[in-house]
Amino acid sequence: MRHSLVLDRLAVPIVLAPLAGGPATPELAAAVSNAGGFGFLAAGYLPASALAERLERTRTLTGAPVGVNLFVPGSPAPPQAVDAYAARLVDDARQAGVELGAARFDDDDWAAKIELLLARPVAVVSFVFGCPEPEVIDRFHDVGSEVWVSVTRPEEARRAVGSGADALVVQGAEAGGHRASFRDDPAADVLGGIGLLSLLQLVRAQADIPLVATGGIATGAAIAAVLAAGAAAAQLGTAFLRCPEAATAAVHRQALADHAPTAMTRAFTGRLARGIRNRFLDRYSDDAPAAYPELHHLTAPMRQAGRAAGDPGLVNLWAGQTYELGRQLPAGQLVRTLGEEARAALQQAQERLGPPADAAAGEEHSGAERP
Ligand SMILES: Cc1cc2nc3c(=O)[nH]c(=O)nc-3n(C[C@H](O)[C@H](O)[C@H](O)COP(=O)(O)O)c2cc1C
Repeated sequence: MRHSLVLDRLAVPIVLAPLAGGPATPELAAAVSNAGGFGFLAAGYLPASALAERLERTRTLTGAPVGVNLFVPGSPAPPQAVDAYAARLVDDARQAGVELGAARFDDDDWAAKIELLLARPVAVVSFVFGCPEPEVIDRFHDVGSEVWVSVTRPEEARRAVGSGADALVVQGAEAGGHRASFRDDPAADVLGGIGLLSLLQLVRAQADIPLVATGGIATGAAIAAVLAAGAAAAQLGTAFLRCPEAATAAVHRQALADHAPTAMTRAFTGRLARGIRNRFLDRYSDDAPAAYPELHHLTAPMRQAGRAAGDPGLVNLWAGQTYELGRQLPAGQLVRTLGEEARAALQQAQERLGPPADAAAGEEHSGAERP
């Protein structure tokens, strides 16, 4: 029998997605955990020292369990592809009043963050962009942390289970931000991603461990739907971006209150991600190679200039397909409201189904009438 996981003990089966690149704060993670959900700190793009500070601050705000999310490093891209892309951007960078950033490869301070989290364990360490080696997972188990791995395809789910993951974060193609794939391979991307409900069913057929559903979930009804499809909890990202506790940039907040369509792009970071369509995304998506994090560093000054000048056309406006349904509420209130809505939605679904077949047959025999 498997031992009890954090997911079994949540008062509300709602997980705050890690939101790297600005929006994630200790205040947001703590508010979600304090409301009975499960809050994540995003470690992506942060040096280990900054993560340590955020962890410390979170611990002053909540005694409830929280998680930390790490980016699994990939491998360097061919420099020619990066140089060719940089040449395309030069004029626009100049117009924005900045130089392009140095397109360097790095591993996001992987080893130092692992050591930090082993020395100061959290309830859950989740991984995105790959599956850590079984030895790394074992080390987290030894210090009492659960390990969750994000997956976008059934093959990835099989690998994560084989490596010892305790739970899978099943990310549908609707999701805002980066696609969690183990490898961003344009040649293998012929499917355009698998939608969440399809993916949950496909992964469930392969993996007998708890699943956390994520991608395009913005309402209690959608939380009810993924629970009915076998998920242990729903992980929401975009839905929390408008909360006052999130450090979402002003231009991003404004775009989330609007109605432009979303699209997948590598233009900002060199890794496939979903954002609200804007000038930069439309102009450069066709040219951008798979080169992460080189392009992330290359475009960072332009994005920063866009945020500072209030020009949303230069900024990566990450958002899932249902972003228009986002609410501007304190995070704790949002968790409670979504929990209530999910309960009501499941009740309604149950009423739609009516009583089990043998109960209905029994009623027929007894002559009882259904209303
Ligand atoms: C602004 C933003 C930042 C994100 N950062 C991370 C991250 O650091 N790590 C991660 O695993 N997923 C990240 N994601 C993806 C989420 O984990 C999740 O898959 C996604 O938000 C689900 O779709 P939704 O946004 O429609 O709820 C991010 C998503 C957004 C919108």
